[in-house]
Amino acid sequence: MSSRVEVYPPSESCRTGSYIPSMEAYREMHRESLADPEKFWRDVYKQFHWEQPYTTFHSYNFDRSKGPISIKWLEGGTTNICYNLLDRNIKLGHGDRIAYYWEGNDPDDYSRLTYRKMLEEVCRFANVLKSKGVTKGDRVGIYMPMILEAVIAMLACARIGAVHSIVFAGFSSDSLGDRMFDCKCKVLLTVDYAYRGEKLLKLKSITDQAIKRSSDLGHQIESCIVVRHLPRLSASMNCTNGEAAHLQEVEKEVPWDEDRDCWWHSEMEDAETSCYPVWVSAEDPLFMLYTSGSTGKPKGVLHTTGGYLMYAATTFKYVFDYKPGDVYWCTADIGWITGHTYVVYGPLANAATSVIFEGTPFHPGNDRFWAVVDKYKVNQFYTAPTAIRALMKFGEEPVKKHCLRSLKVLGSVGEPINKEAWLWYYDLVGGKRCSIVDTFWQTETGGHVLTPLPGCTPMKPGSATFPFFGVEPVLLDEEGHVIEGPGEGYLVFKRPWPGMMRTLFGNHERFEEVYFSRFEGYYATGDGARRDEDGYLWVTGRVDDMLNVSGHLMSTAEVESVLAEHPGVAEAAVVSRPHKVKGQCLYCFITPQTSQAFDATFISQLKTRVREKIGPFASPDVIHHAPALPKTRSGKIMRRILRKIAVNDKNIGDTSTLADESVVASLFKSRPADS
Ligand code: PRX
Repeated sequence: MSSRVEVYPPSESCRTGSYIPSMEAYREMHRESLADPEKFWRDVYKQFHWEQPYTTFHSYNFDRSKGPISIKWLEGGTTNICYNLLDRNIKLGHGDRIAYYWEGNDPDDYSRLTYRKMLEEVCRFANVLKSKGVTKGDRVGIYMPMILEAVIAMLACARIGAVHSIVFAGFSSDSLGDRMFDCKCKVLLTVDYAYRGEKLLKLKSITDQAIKRSSDLGHQIESCIVVRHLPRLSASMNCTNGEAAHLQEVEKEVPWDEDRDCWWHSEMEDAETSCYPVWVSAEDPLFMLYTSGSTGKPKGVLHTTGGYLMYAATTFKYVFDYKPGDVYWCTADIGWITGHTYVVYGPLANAATSVIFEGTPFHPGNDRFWAVVDKYKVNQFYTAPTAIRALMKFGEEPVKKHCLRSLKVLGSVGEPINKEAWLWYYDLVGGKRCSIVDTFWQTETGGHVLTPLPGCTPMKPGSATFPFFGVEPVLLDEEGHVIEGPGEGYLVFKRPWPGMMRTLFGNHERFEEVYFSRFEGYYATGDGARRDEDGYLWVTGRVDDMLNVSGHLMSTAEVESVLAEHPGVAEAAVVSRPHKVKGQCLYCFITPQTSQAFDATFISQLKTRVREKIGPFASPDVIHHAPALPKTRSGKIMRRILRKIAVNDKNIGDTSTLADESVVASLFKSRPADS
């Protein structure tokens, strides 16, 4: 495999008719976007409706020594993003166009929604929210599977200027409760139950526990609106009579608080189908979304309206080379930023037709992704390397069973893509004719910041290549000196682009501290990167105590604090270890209390604890009994050494600061057998 050439030029079929047909065209547009941002973004701006035009195009400060960090785009302008996504597109004649093909967890469960119908549903739900007392600026929590109601709810919030705060429905009740407490959520939306693959998730029960947790912490959530999802699943699932009867029984058990809870369908019944949009300022908040922080406490990343709209729309159009009539599918959950920008806002801003998928790649068979691509004749497919690696294990047959000729662009997001996975994606899924867009970005960046462009950028497997328009990446060394030309360093950005976050909800100080204190004048991503001799950028991974398990970013501190809460744990230290499918996994060193037996029960209690407190995706792979941890003389845990122990690499480098060297030898000896 290594004998293959490293550079993959875009295929002829991808080049033909692509928006950006050559690297010269890209370079020229990129240069213009930096030289005169107002000129560049004005063309995008003009496509949308602004109730009031902007007065100041753009202003910012990235340097704390010059005052508070601030990022502003289109100040003075007012608009409504929901109006731009729905009403505007309908006015342009796209009312009967399909906005979403919904594909349920079960293949027999599917539906579709046009732009016109979507507007009607959004207006009705916006009126429901108003009837619950939600007004501009209020936070609305969403804890739902991938169903159309989730998108309707997001846009209904945007229509009335409320701020949605979505929590991925794989998070635990504690995680949901903490986030709803932090954002002072007024109304929380959920479903009775959902299936993920074969697994029945009791989302309403989890929500109830979360509401209680928020209330125990001191914030009362006023209303909970529940979509009745299970009965309609059973209706389409070809259940046997016995199974249907069982589901009916389950449904009767939905926990209920008469004063607080209501059913989505009952509220919608009498709601008006029109709702005048609330015009908001370009810099008014659109949504917040929690992401892990290296101190362990999640950060409520806040995105605003005008700049985000322009950026989501533009990145979607160019990065997926989306043309009217194409069918696009992003497999990400709306609980993550990818679901926000590239399932909802970006596609709808372009009047696109998308697939929205509730299930998993493995249900009912390991060919589900390819069956869905074939069923809807998907042209652009966007998924995560972890999914690709998991599917590679099943060989070529599940892919080859289906016709994938419709595919033109294949996207990758969330973590570095290894060469083997890239080649499998390119050769087998893309039939060597599709462009692969390895998109690097973050919850904080709002949209793609480093990415190839289809039909334009010659690809190198594993490289996110070059910056998107308006983005100016810089590599810095340890002292903050700029690395010109080839080299490796900290990946930072010199100026904001329109879709970048504006602050952390309720904590601007932490925002400045986390992102702008390490290097004055730059936004620090927390990632390292390398620039090769051709100028290609290769993201090398986190430079802080964060890790990326199957594309889910989490902090070692977050897991450590959950483990340390177990009464049998004296000390816990968590490091990441490479994993063939997940990318990285959690390797936990545990020093037990003297009275605690280190047996299978204890290990399983620790694993369950992390699953329950954070979520199943955070489940540790290895629990290592560590009677003592390697520490410096001042008592600091030497994680660098723990990372070496986790991969059984005896080459541990300088140990002169270690307080007790024998600890390291005994940890190497006691590595659990299955690790
Ligand atoms: O470490 C980078 C990695 O994922 C982090 C951002 O995670 P999150 O905010 O959850 O957003 C994920 C979806 C945008 C980054 O700091 N990451 C994301 N995309 C890539 C990546 N690492 C390498 N290559 C990528 N394409």
